[in-house]
Amino acid sequence: MNPDAIREKFGDDYIADERTFMMGIDQRFTAHMAERFRGRRVLETCTGAGFTTIALARAASQVITVEIDPYHQTQAKKNLQRAGLLSSVEFVSGSILDPSLLAGLPPFDAAFLDPDWAITGPDHVYRFVHSNTQPPADILLKTILERTRNVAIVLPPLLDTRELAGLPRNECQKLYLGESHELYCLYFGDLAAGFGDTAFRVSV
Ligand SMILES: C[S@@+](CC[C@H](N)C(=O)[O-])C[C@H]1O[C@@H](n2cnc3c(N)ncnc32)[C@H](O)[C@@H]1O
Repeated sequence: MNPDAIREKFGDDYIADERTFMMGIDQRFTAHMAERFRGRRVLETCTGAGFTTIALARAASQVITVEIDPYHQTQAKKNLQRAGLLSSVEFVSGSILDPSLLAGLPPFDAAFLDPDWAITGPDHVYRFVHSNTQPPADILLKTILERTRNVAIVLPPLLDTRELAGLPRNECQKLYLGESHELYCLYFGDLAAGFGDTAFRVSV
């Protein structure tokens, strides 16, 4: 990976391969989203190479982060070490949808969910209901809302938001880099600054 691109997107000489680079969220967005978690004990899923984990560890009082892919988790540990935050984070290996893993987690009072959008080709259609993200965003959100009402979930920009009807009251934020709508973040419970549609813009 081009080190300049990594520095520009994530802020330092972190480790990433093509996949974790593409999946990782830009530092200007991660810092913004992590502010909502200031002082909280956060469950994060999914870790990837740890770019959201770094932002959360800077704001939260405690971070537990779950990742199914050992290769991604190894990158994340190296990146947290590079950021000087390794000791602030508890890494858990496995699937967040495994009931025994979920039952064994330390207590948390908020959660940050960043499922893999798994782009598979030009005809790919993003779905929330019967979601085709990994893990499925609809099942993931329902599962975690049973543990805490304070949840943020990142979703792809091309989603048909009519599929979100019926969810508990939330703030549905569109995040833009310049004029480009890059992602949605839905905030539930105390993480919502208000309810309804909002926008966050980073100028480029
Ligand atoms: C979009 S990436 C996370 C990117 C990360 N938040 C960042 O900013 O670098 C999604 C991650 O979810 C992981 N994943 C997929 N299914 C999972 C599951 N059931 N439990 C935990 N992690 C899972 C993938 O291996 C991948 O690393």
